[in-house]
This record gives sequence, structure tokens and C-alpha cells, in this order.
Amino acid sequence: MLLSMNVDGKHYRTIWLGSDGSSVEVIDQTKLPHEFVILKLTTLEDAIRAIKTMVVRGAPLIGATAAYGFCLGMCEDASDEGIERTYSALLATRPTAVNLQWALQKMRDELSGIESSQRVEKAYALASAIADEDVAINESIGKHGLGLLKDLNERRRQPECLNILTHCNAGWLATVDWGTALSPIYAAHNEGIPVHVWVDETRPRNQGASLTAWELGQHGVAHTVIADNVGGHLMQHDMVDCVITGTDRTTCAGDVCNKIGTYLKALAARDNDVPFYVGLPGPTIDWTIQDGVRDIPIEQRDAMEVSHITGRAADGSIQSVQLIPEGSPVRNDAFDVTPRRLVTGLITERGVCEASPEGLATLYPELGNAPAPTL
Ligand code: MRU
Repeated sequence: MLLSMNVDGKHYRTIWLGSDGSSVEVIDQTKLPHEFVILKLTTLEDAIRAIKTMVVRGAPLIGATAAYGFCLGMCEDASDEGIERTYSALLATRPTAVNLQWALQKMRDELSGIESSQRVEKAYALASAIADEDVAINESIGKHGLGLLKDLNERRRQPECLNILTHCNAGWLATVDWGTALSPIYAAHNEGIPVHVWVDETRPRNQGASLTAWELGQHGVAHTVIADNVGGHLMQHDMVDCVITGTDRTTCAGDVCNKIGTYLKALAARDNDVPFYVGLPGPTIDWTIQDGVRDIPIEQRDAMEVSHITGRAADGSIQSVQLIPEGSPVRNDAFDVTPRRLVTGLITERGVCEASPEGLATLYPELGNAPAPTL
């Protein structure tokens, strides 16, 4: 039984401190699944580029990388101005995942209150604590989600296995370790439950086809990659027991923002009485907003991600080819919002709750009872 996430049998986190004690190493996710490459980040600019170009991605990992990026920023300039410059530069990398802001605020608040001579050391201690906290949160999401999967397994729709559909990559690659949506799946697999995962390809960047399929394969979890528009059809034929996705930002009322296409899966799930669950770490809750459709900023990304596709050619080389007619306009919204009425439950590190202000406030009383803005 594997107790942590492995690549070719060796345990890895997605981000760690280099052996020199100051650089930061990450897995280059733009190269997966064809190559496993480790990149060394030595400057603030390296960290900014890694987040922007999606060398690292996934809400929790974006947060952890921002925290380590803050350390690199402090090595360059630990003055008060340095703190503000580092904060603003990292905050501008990607707009939707709230973990970025959460980690940066934590770093800024803690570092502002101490002497500049102590800031570098303190920054590394904070970043390491943020990374460790993410691992503990995700492991706990796995334990709470396991209970749900055990129940569903008792009444699974097909005799062979428990079929779970997921969208995008909310596995260990999207976090520091374990993953959010995939953590309960790994826990179920480790318990001997016969799980099988339908992996949405997740156009345009194909995080499902490239990343989720790869990490499930590395862990030995049965899976099948499907085109993004297949899930509803499978649900109509009793081939999906539940959907589990991750989230980049969940409002305090329970609206869930996640990778573009998640909303359509939630609609299909509701129409077919398939439970739709979301793996939700506490730092992904935005306590300042209620209405996700209105208030969550949706990242607009490069048209090339839609107009082109990259993959391995028959000769082994990695190539990018154009899919659309020359000159056709393209729009590339990276996320959408699933309203809370379509969400069966939120699987958090503190337990499973209803996607509602009351549900979240029960699990996070110290945060959830703050007066929220009215809708
Ligand atoms: O654009 P990405 O790849 O960063 O988007 C990632 C997702 O949408 C994930 O589902 C989300 O961050 C949850 S990760 C545990």
C-alpha cells in the first residue's frame, strides 16, 4: 500500500527547498506526461514565471509557490518596500485561485511585524509551514471523503467497480501532496475499494488527460480518459456513481469556482441524480464574497491554448499543431462557477458539509460567523 504520492516508486512533493537551503525546486508540469523534469527557482522572477506559465498550477500549489516565491523576494530585498513589491508582483500572476492571496497575505502580515534582518529566515519557516499545512489538510480531506466513497461503494451502480468522474487536475500535482478531489480516491484505492476514475480531458490545457491520467497511473488507480463532453452520456447510463472536483475559490455561501467545464458536469449530475462533491481546503474559501458568478474574477488566458494543441508525435518529439482556421477569433475563459444548489457536499479537512453559508459556518465557526456581505 502506498502511503504518499510517488513517481516511479520514489516519493515526491510538488515543491521543496533545494539542497542549498535557498532555491526552490518544483516539478515542471508543462512537460508532463511525456517528461518528468525538475526545475530550480532561484529568483522572485523565476517564481512569478513558474506560476504564470503554469509550470506549477492548481490552487493550493499556487499558494505554496507564492509563499516560497516570497522567500526568494526577501533574499533579494527584505526592506518594507521589498515586502510590498514582492506581494504585488506575486499577486498579479493569476487572478482566480484565492489561495494565492491567502498565502501572500499571511507572508506579508507576519514579515511586516519583524526586523528586516530576520525576514529571510522567517519567510522560509512560514513557507515551509504553509506547505506542511497543505499536506495535512489534503490528507484529512481524503479521510473525510473516504467515508462518502465507502457508502457509495455499498450501492454502486455497476457490479465491477465504483465509478468516479473528475474534471481538471485536483490531485497531488495541484497541491503539495495528496490532492483535494483525488485524495479520497487515493484513500479508497489504498483501502482496497475497486475505484475507477473517468478523467475528463479538460480542454483547452488538458490537465485531465496530461496530469490526472499520469498521476493516477503512477499510483496504480484504474482510470479512463474521456473527451469533455462524454460525462453526461455516461451518467445517463448509470456509469458514474459520483463526481468529485476541486475548486479554485469557493464563496462563503458555497458557490464553487473551478476549471472551465465543471458547471456543465454539475448540471448533468443533477439531471441524473449523481452526487456532485467538491474537495475544499479551508484556504480556498473566500470569506469576503457570497455570489460566485458575480464576484469571482475569471482568468482569461491566451488564445493559443484553444487554437493549438501540444502532444508527442510519432517520432517522439513534442509538437504543437493548429486546430482552427487561420484568423478565427478565440475566447479562453479558464474557470466557471457552479452555484451551490448543484453541489451535494463540500469535503473539507474538517468534515463534509452542505454547500451553504450555514454548512461552512458550522465547520469554520471562527471564520464563518464574521458578517458576510449581503447578496
Ligand atoms: O488552471 P489550473 O490548472 O491551475 O486549474 C486548476 C483547477 O481548476 C483545479 O481543479 C483547482 O485548482 C483545484 S486543485 C486542488
